[in-house]
Amino acid sequence: MSALTQTRPLDHVADFPAIPAGWAYLDTAATAQKPQEVIDAITRAYDTSYATVHRGVYQRSADMTLAYEAARRKVAKFLNAGSENEIVFVRGATEGINLVAQCWAGTRLKAGDRILLSTLEHHSNIVPWQMVAERIGAQIDVIPLTEDHRIDLDAMAAMITPQHKLVALGHVSNVLGSVLDGRRAADIAHSVGAKILLDGCQSVPRMTVDVAALDCDFYVFSGHKLYGPTGIGVLWARPELLEAMPPYQGGGSMIDKVSFAKTTYAPPPGRFEAGTPHIVGVLGLAAGIDYVTRIGLDRIHAHETALVKLTRDALSQINSLTLFGPEDSAGIVSFSIEGVHPHDIGTILDEAKVAVRAGHHCAQPLMEALGVDATARASFGVYNSAADVDALVKGIERVTRIFG
Ligand code: ALA
Repeated sequence: MSALTQTRPLDHVADFPAIPAGWAYLDTAATAQKPQEVIDAITRAYDTSYATVHRGVYQRSADMTLAYEAARRKVAKFLNAGSENEIVFVRGATEGINLVAQCWAGTRLKAGDRILLSTLEHHSNIVPWQMVAERIGAQIDVIPLTEDHRIDLDAMAAMITPQHKLVALGHVSNVLGSVLDGRRAADIAHSVGAKILLDGCQSVPRMTVDVAALDCDFYVFSGHKLYGPTGIGVLWARPELLEAMPPYQGGGSMIDKVSFAKTTYAPPPGRFEAGTPHIVGVLGLAAGIDYVTRIGLDRIHAHETALVKLTRDALSQINSLTLFGPEDSAGIVSFSIEGVHPHDIGTILDEAKVAVRAGHHCAQPLMEALGVDATARASFGVYNSAADVDALVKGIERVTRIFG
């Protein structure tokens, strides 16, 4: 347990009412459990302070609007964005990427233009680009991985051309935990005039993110992986890009003036938030940000990195087990066991009260590149400890005994 004792271990499991004693929840990359203070913020928003935003002249609605817009400022500060007007609330990272695909790429790219993705992308960072590319006649190119399963930025630099208008990459892989050098990727993209979108779903819960330092153009993440509620996420974009983009959906709130002769639109971010927004989700997300900020993302990162090291060190002793991803993966360990389907690994671990994800993790092209149909994946959060790693390792030893 030396890697853990070298860092100050976190001990936050007591904050999480849905984690009973003795249950090792190792599926945070799918969705994080919720601390009591996030649950309380959501409950308060519904039971004592609930009202609509941006529409009411009465005090309760004005207060709710202030809270909603304060949450937007909190997100801006969390990402080190230039202003809260750069923060668009969306349903999740998936919607954020679809918004950029439709409203930026869909209105700017033309036939023959190219989009650059990588082998390890989540389907939500592949399919929206395929949809827009098919409509426009653009082409998609795919950056390969290094031997240790990172996005190969040398290959990216060699393959990018002025025809590439958009690069979209995962900041941290949801399967492998590989951390992208986002700044270098942005520099390469900008060297040919391309814009770059980073998918921050797996990075915001486990490392400090600074969009100014990354120098990216678009950044998206989901609230539910950041200890907040489902159904809420964030698109950050450079203000001049948002300004130039047409709306995503039409409806209330996103307009300046409506008439049957001509409708004009609100400036960003309102232009991209049609309809009554997910008010309570936004307040829950703000509580999630407060929660991780108070613990400190650098401490969370160190803690999860130490848990990854413990896990990889222990699992590498098992001959029939293959580990994927780099040694320094951020909070996520994927593996397979010869002759055992990952679903069987997951089921046997569940009997031992260890929850992992098994499957293709919404990354089928990556599975193909790794030469497997599926993997088992353990992913960590602030509530995990060395005891959870022990439970995982004992459970896997049992899997290998059962399957001989
Ligand atoms: N993207 C989520 C995961 O990796 C759903 O499990």
